[in-house]
This record gives sequence, structure tokens and C-alpha cells, in this order.
Amino acid sequence: MKTSRTPKAVAAAWDIIVKSTRALDDEDRDVPLAQDLFHILGSIKGATLLANKRGLDPEIITVAMILHDVGRIPTGVFPGHDMAGVPPVRGLLKGMGDLLRKRWISSSA
Ligand SMILES: [Fe+2]
Repeated sequence: MKTSRTPKAVAAAWDIIVKSTRALDDEDRDVPLAQDLFHILGSIKGATLLANKRGLDPEIITVAMILHDVGRIPTGVFPGHDMAGVPPVRGLLKGMGDLLRKRWISSSA
């Protein structure tokens, strides 16, 4: 069995994105899916640079950047994407909220 070096919360967040990509074809989206995925990757890069400068936990920052527009992936549109993102983020926090909270507290202490 292969073991992953990706932190659990990052893998779980990315899994939400990957599973959501199957919801729509590009012609049903306001921008191609690839553009949304590039936006996520760019957000991770930029936020990680800032997090490193400020001594913040890069895992938490990465999870936040992966999920910050998660509602756009299954809906394909900007309007309402914030609320569309609530259920998947809530699901992740149910499973990993304690882990992320502890990491956040220990990294910001
Ligand atoms: Fe964004």
C-alpha cells in the first residue's frame, strides 16, 4: 500500500475539489474548470509565501486556499458560490476540525 506524504487535511480538501470537478462540463461554466484550478494553485502559492513570512502554519493556509472558492467548482458560476461552498467545508471541518484547530492554536501561540 502506498503512503502519502500529503498532510491529511490538505489531501481531504483537495479530494473535495477533485470530486466536485465531475459536476459540470466547461460549456456549463462561466470560466473553464482549468482556470478555477489555476486560481486555486496561484492562491496557494501566494498565501504560502505570506504564511512563511509571518510564521503561519502552511498546512492550514493551504487548506484554506484550496477551499476558499470551493463552491465555484460544482456550480461553475460566481454568484452564490460562497454558500455553495458551505456544505463541503462543513463536512471537512466535522472530520478534521479538531486537527486544524489544534494546529492553528499551536502555530499562532
Ligand atoms: Fe478566489
